[in-house]
Amino acid sequence: MQARVGSFSSLEEGQIPLRMMHQYSKHLLPLRLLLLFLLLGVGLVFIYISMYSYRYINIHNVASSTAATRIQTPHDGCVQESEGLESWIRPPSSLLHAMNDTELFWRASVVPEIDKYPFKRTPKIAFMFLTRGPLPLAPLWERFFSGNERLYSIYIHSSPGYDPEFKPSSPFYGRQIPSQVAEWGRMNMCDAERRLLANALLDFSNEWFVLVSEACIPLHNFTNIYTYISQSQFSFLGAFDEDGPYGRGRYNEGMAPEVNLSDWRKGSQWFELSRKLAVDVVQDTLYHPKFEQFCRPHTCYGDEHYLPTMMTLQSPHLLANRTLTWVDWSRGGPHPASYDEGELTEKFFKEAVGGAEGSCLYNGQATNVCFLFARKFAPTAVDHLLANSFKFLGF
Ligand SMILES: *[C@@H]1O[C@H](CO)[C@@H](O)[C@H](O)[C@H]1NC(C)=O
Ligand SMILES: *[C@@H]1O[C@H](CO)[C@@H](O)[C@H](O)[C@H]1NC(C)=O
Ligand SMILES: *[C@@H]1O[C@H](CO)[C@@H](O)[C@H](O)[C@H]1NC(C)=O
Ligand SMILES: *[C@@H]1O[C@H](CO)[C@@H](O)[C@H](O)[C@H]1NC(C)=O
Repeated sequence: MQARVGSFSSLEEGQIPLRMMHQYSKHLLPLRLLLLFLLLGVGLVFIYISMYSYRYINIHNVASSTAATRIQTPHDGCVQESEGLESWIRPPSSLLHAMNDTELFWRASVVPEIDKYPFKRTPKIAFMFLTRGPLPLAPLWERFFSGNERLYSIYIHSSPGYDPEFKPSSPFYGRQIPSQVAEWGRMNMCDAERRLLANALLDFSNEWFVLVSEACIPLHNFTNIYTYISQSQFSFLGAFDEDGPYGRGRYNEGMAPEVNLSDWRKGSQWFELSRKLAVDVVQDTLYHPKFEQFCRPHTCYGDEHYLPTMMTLQSPHLLANRTLTWVDWSRGGPHPASYDEGELTEKFFKEAVGGAEGSCLYNGQATNVCFLFARKFAPTAVDHLLANSFKFLGF
């Protein structure tokens, strides 16, 4: 800059007639120099100001476009500057995403092809609550979960529009997933289960997936339940081949050849699935349309047949073929018995729910611990259960 200004001045000097040069330089040179420095100063200030405002505008633009990205992906929470593995494996900070089922199931079906995780991973149990409205037994579950925060996560699917009231200190707080209508016996009930599985799959730490209802309670302390599930070679899904009108009688030949009569299975909807099987459920496009079309009330009930049949066809060797959730059908009728405080005693939990010695198989060994959960319990039973939880349930 200085060099150019310098050469300019020398050029100008050169234009002055030689004979006048002496005179000029003698009187005007200090004045001209002063002017030159003044111009130089103004120029530098101008350049500085323009450079500064350019940088400011640029930073401003970058900042506002980052803000736009954040608005588009609210589930990613804070956008990280670095692109480490951390940002990929971190579970969504908010469960309220804007994906529809097609998008959600696609995203949840993304599976790592390398078995060994290159980071410290503590496998968790995802407890998935399929409910209509409130969770009246939540205080009992809160006691059950307490102190095991690293080992579980919670997801709630309830009727759309239902707004739960959990305190921020509750493990149920903010665990609601975007929900849709689910009716007993219809395939939209299975869709709600798939939606729960898909949301839970987005957290890479979830390894086992347990479906429970608002009328369910745990029958053992957390440690015992975690050990039982995590050390089992099989997933717990009721699946049996039943003759008669309520079993094979519900099969429709339209389902062949994907599902033949001999493949038809029945079982309770309350399951425990491994991560592999959970992905299978979410990504199924072969059996789901068949059930959608041919398994409808009142000749067939999707929630009693879809998963047992599909899982038996795909992965029979991974199934224990029994459920972990105790229920009492002995009173007859379309609904199982619901227990209230008067009927809940130590004897009831030991004898009715506890099971006789050797009444089921665990990893091929006979055991009397067949059930980890039980239903149904009346909302009014919660205080009685809380008052006696250690005596009845061991926590
Ligand atoms: C979800 O959105 C995608 C893209 O708009 C669309 O193709 C798909 O049909 C939608 N799925 C459902 C279940 O609405
Ligand atoms: C859970 O219950 C078992 C007995 O069934 C007991 O040995 C264990 O200490 C209990 N664990 C906790 C954390 O309370
Ligand atoms: C059902 O039966 C047909 C005809 O025997 C056979 O081709 C088909 O593979 C069977 N489907 C399954 C799922 O086994
Ligand atoms: C569950 O049933 C399937 C057949 O439906 C069978 O292949 C599998 O071995 C059974 N699982 C156990 C643990 O017995």
